[in-house]
Amino acid sequence: MADFDVVVIGGGPGGYNAAIRAGQLGMSVACIEMRETGTFGGTCLNVGCIPSKALLHASELYAAAQTDFEQLGIKTGKLSFDLDQMLKQKDDAVEGLTKGVEYLFKKNKVTGYLGRGEITGKGKVTVHKADGGTEELNAKNIIIATGSEVMPLPNVAIDEEQIVSSTGALKLKSVPKHLVVIGGGVIGLELGSVWRRLGAKVTVVEFLDRILPTMDGEVSKGFQRILKKQGMDFKLKTKVTGVETLKTKVKVSVEPADGGDGEVIEADTVLVAIGRRPVTKGLGLEAVGIETDKRGFIPTDHFKTSADGVYAIGDVTHGPMLAHKAEDEAVACVEVIAGKPGHIDHNLIPGVVYTWPEVANVGKTEEQLKEAGVEYKVGKFPFAANSRAKTNHDTDGFVKVLADARTDRVLGVHMIGTGVGEMIAEAAIVMEFGGSSEDIARTSHPHPTRTEALRQAAMGVEGWTMQA
Ligand code: FAD
Ligand code: NAI
Repeated sequence: MADFDVVVIGGGPGGYNAAIRAGQLGMSVACIEMRETGTFGGTCLNVGCIPSKALLHASELYAAAQTDFEQLGIKTGKLSFDLDQMLKQKDDAVEGLTKGVEYLFKKNKVTGYLGRGEITGKGKVTVHKADGGTEELNAKNIIIATGSEVMPLPNVAIDEEQIVSSTGALKLKSVPKHLVVIGGGVIGLELGSVWRRLGAKVTVVEFLDRILPTMDGEVSKGFQRILKKQGMDFKLKTKVTGVETLKTKVKVSVEPADGGDGEVIEADTVLVAIGRRPVTKGLGLEAVGIETDKRGFIPTDHFKTSADGVYAIGDVTHGPMLAHKAEDEAVACVEVIAGKPGHIDHNLIPGVVYTWPEVANVGKTEEQLKEAGVEYKVGKFPFAANSRAKTNHDTDGFVKVLADARTDRVLGVHMIGTGVGEMIAEAAIVMEFGGSSEDIARTSHPHPTRTEALRQAAMGVEGWTMQA
């Protein structure tokens, strides 16, 4: 029986970063992962962030070559693409990064186990291996980082061929003529964009009255207009009542969310993307008396669960289901175990939608500030007035800065535009340091760059925007 200071269950961004940080701090550490592929990296590296971004990147270049090159004076022959190669370069990216985790495990003396981890008692974890064998581990501390899985739609069986989750949508064998996406959230819009760019007609069916419902309302509306202009169709306030699979077609029955006449949409492929749910099945929570909440999440207080010496991080516990949130919690949780403070600011986790253009946000939305009764000022700047965006003929979107009306402290930043996924970290840092819109406005930004749009929006809070 092996003894460890820390045993981490789950090898995703939460789990592998926790294991690596524990190794760095001189603890003996094991990380257990049950993925059939035998790879670490979790949802993010294997079937999430990384493969989706590889396809978004390739399809974005293809779309740009179709729509933008001519204006730039670039001539190509007849444009086409090789789907097999596009999928292969995605698989290569995944392979490279999952191997990178193995390298980091070696470097930081992390013992990796392949199999299902089960908590069997205080300080006890059993690894159930694929070959049927088991191994018992003693753990001074256990970190649960078992992540999340696709939320199923009642009465709709995902076969990963005609009715797919994000996992199937990352490896379709051919471009569907018509892809119906159920759920106008991040996955639906990112993967819907990939297949639309490659030639599919895409219809997004969203239950609520707007896409990306947790984002700032102005961003949701503005972004939907942009996607519509690109050719994506939307059916908002619409619920799916059934999905029937025929030999080569899928029939999706929908009706207005608040009642009325229904219709049937014919599609080749349906992507179910209505959210994700935490994974705790077979984990042995009952052995240490941990109860999940009614949505299945493990409640924590500064990463500590209700059981002594057991911690939970990442998608399996509360907060946004994002890789960097899992990673930040991993580092802070291990530092807490090591007797350090372990800092993370859950109010300032940035979010990015990697479409074209991108959408990025950090902090509060206008709706949240109104609901909390906070008085705020707004500074806004459109990319149509940003010199770099104009020069590049790429002017969709805007930057919006929300600042406290009394103190000028930045409370939220919301952006749509090319490259805003890279720009949002600047806003996060300013906010982390309690900075004001004037701090951004009086900081020199290089010209001509898109970052000047953030500066101009910050200037706009006090009404002295200048660039035209
Ligand atoms: P996971 O990554 O889910 O890892 C948990 C791991 O634990 C899994 O590999 C699972 O097999 C394993 N496991 C579960 N139970 C056990 C057990 N009992 N024993 C052993 N192993 C177990 N986030 C972003 O920030 N940016 C993005 O661009 C982004 N894109 C995404 C795209 C898609 C298509 C999807 C589906 C998600 C995306 N996400 C993105 C979300 C991101 O993948 C998750 O937030 C992140 O992976 C959560 O990390 P985690 O470590 O908590 O869990
Ligand atoms: P989501 O929560 O982002 O969006 C789900 C959408 O489906 C919502 O708009 C919701 O109103 C809608 N919906 C729910 N039930 C429905 C129904 N029955 N019919 C029609 N619409 C319905 O979830 P999504 O897109 O599945 O993504 C899961 C998680 O993965 C997200 O929490 C996200 O954080 C993460 N992710 C992050 C990415 C990024 O950071 N770029 C990329 C992809 C995923």
